[in-house]
Amino acid sequence: MSEARPARPKVFVTRRLPDVTETRMRELFDVDLRDADRALSRAEMSAGIADCDVFVPTVSDEIDADVIASAGNRLKLIANFGVGVDHIDLRAAHERSIPVTNTPGVLTDDTADMTMALLLATVRRMRAGETSLREGSWDGWSPTSLRGTRIGGKALGIVGMGRIGRAVAARARAFGMDVHYHNRRRLPDGVESAYGATWWDDLDSMLPEVDVLSIHCPLTPDTDGLFDAKRLSKLGSHVYLINTARGEIIDEAALAEALAAGRLAGAGLDVFADEPRVPEALKSLDNVTLLPHMGSATFEGRRQMGDKVITNIRAWSDGHRPPDQVLE
Ligand code: DGY
Repeated sequence: MSEARPARPKVFVTRRLPDVTETRMRELFDVDLRDADRALSRAEMSAGIADCDVFVPTVSDEIDADVIASAGNRLKLIANFGVGVDHIDLRAAHERSIPVTNTPGVLTDDTADMTMALLLATVRRMRAGETSLREGSWDGWSPTSLRGTRIGGKALGIVGMGRIGRAVAARARAFGMDVHYHNRRRLPDGVESAYGATWWDDLDSMLPEVDVLSIHCPLTPDTDGLFDAKRLSKLGSHVYLINTARGEIIDEAALAEALAAGRLAGAGLDVFADEPRVPEALKSLDNVTLLPHMGSATFEGRRQMGDKVITNIRAWSDGHRPPDQVLE
């Protein structure tokens, strides 16, 4: 027999959400929303989680075992506003039989668009160009200044061929790139050929073949530190590295060292291991484009992420399995 669930669950939200999402939540739930948009302290999160049916965190909240331990018996669902759930201790939630949901699909295209923007900005040196213009050092067109690298005909290596990896593959193909990918599972024949993509079972064998490498795998114990100094050294000195997935997948100190020493051509980074802290060693480099984790930041995408959070909460409160439940 399924347990009775509150028709107007008490929902605690850690960050400001788009107005349209907050308005709908007020209509549907007994919701505790924030006045100001800032990351909550651990004490504030623990206090919030202690007295709600549903907890709505975002990627900027570290929901570890201690925070989950402060949940009261009342907590029945963690409905994450975002697709990545690496900031939530899933095992601790599972041990307390608290399901976790996320918002897959609706930020795929926005993140893939941002990946291409970051890739192009980096290989075509847009930051250097814009800076020279704004600083007044641009003295007109010249045949030799601000040359970057053409991407047409170059090999793009994609690490992680899930939704976002595939959306990047489709875009890269339209730009004339040859797509290579490493994924635990090979794509079905028809899908692989639609992207004209070459599968590499062994990541290390793919690395010497690429001109640009773009990371799209989730952060898990297996991918944490995947790109350490040794693996970075398998990339050629002409290679650009793009990361719109999670900062922890790359050893940032090793990356900064490789970039400074010219062992890599450049990097475009939208994510960092200890956000919002960005290592000074990366900030001091000219061959790096740095963005503040804005891959999914469109009005449309953020509204749809809010819609998904609401759908998941409503499904749960109606006694159903939420459509985007991450674990059993
Ligand atoms: C996610 O959803 O995991 C992104 O990193 C934030 O939009």
